[in-house]
Amino acid sequence: MRLKRKDLLGLADLTPEEITLILDTAASLKEISTRPIKKVPTLRGKTVVTLFYEPSTRTRMSFEIATKRLSADTVNLTVAASSAVKGETLADTAANLEAMNPDLLVIRHQASGAPHFLARRLACGVINAGDGTHEHPTQALLDLLTVREAKGTLSGLKVAIVGDILHSRVARSNVHGFLKMGSEVWLAGPATMLPPGLAALGARLTTSLREALTGADVVMMLRLQLERMGQHFFSTLREYSRTYGLNPDTLAWAKEDAIVMHPGPLNRGVEIDPAVADGPRSVILEQVANGVAVRMAVLLLLSGGE
Ligand code: NCD
Repeated sequence: MRLKRKDLLGLADLTPEEITLILDTAASLKEISTRPIKKVPTLRGKTVVTLFYEPSTRTRMSFEIATKRLSADTVNLTVAASSAVKGETLADTAANLEAMNPDLLVIRHQASGAPHFLARRLACGVINAGDGTHEHPTQALLDLLTVREAKGTLSGLKVAIVGDILHSRVARSNVHGFLKMGSEVWLAGPATMLPPGLAALGARLTTSLREALTGADVVMMLRLQLERMGQHFFSTLREYSRTYGLNPDTLAWAKEDAIVMHPGPLNRGVEIDPAVADGPRSVILEQVANGVAVRMAVLLLLSGGE
């Protein structure tokens, strides 16, 4: 099967069938990363440009590793070292990159909608690697793959997402993803960080960590996005951690076989206790490994592959 679209901008636009196609493709590509020679010639001759306007560790490295494992050529523009610091607009930067005729452009940008703006202007495919507080589709896809592997299904689960929901593109993409695949999504955090718009999509909002975690199959913890907070959203880090932190005692409210997830970067001791982050129910490093497979799948499918 093929994915009939030019760009991957968000999970809001994907159908459950498209999500399943991407996850199945990723699952079948995982094996390549375990070979002694971790490379297939599938995307030989294709050029992938990555453009990161915000810091990134996992997303950027895994896109780069994914392109290399598929034999595409990859060029990475570090924006701090580019003409953006000399005042060049995003549209001009993109038009200049397009003149070099890449096949795919991967972009992370602080402005929500930046990838959509480029997707309308450029002939090449555009992949959203995180836009402001809007969406982070490849993160949600790798989260879905990790849950599907751990639970054997994506339907009928109780998924609790906890923390700074308001500023989290990871939460927004996951709300779309888990609801589309037939699971229940609970969002927990301080009232200042619970956007009511997500309730309209079908997610349940609560300020009670206990209510969200009770009977949960999946617990996803989020970092406080302090860099996106212009005002006070909580009193002190200590109080936040005491009310919303995941530790062995609060995790006990979830199902006995609940898995613990985090997109990274972790703020240990704030939203998550090291005993839980490094404990037997944590799948945080599986998420990272699945990130490579999911990005390989997306690069392959958007290049017209099957
Ligand atoms: C997240 C992001 O950048 O949106 N990280 C990631 O891509 N794994 C979450 C975060 O920064 O807290």
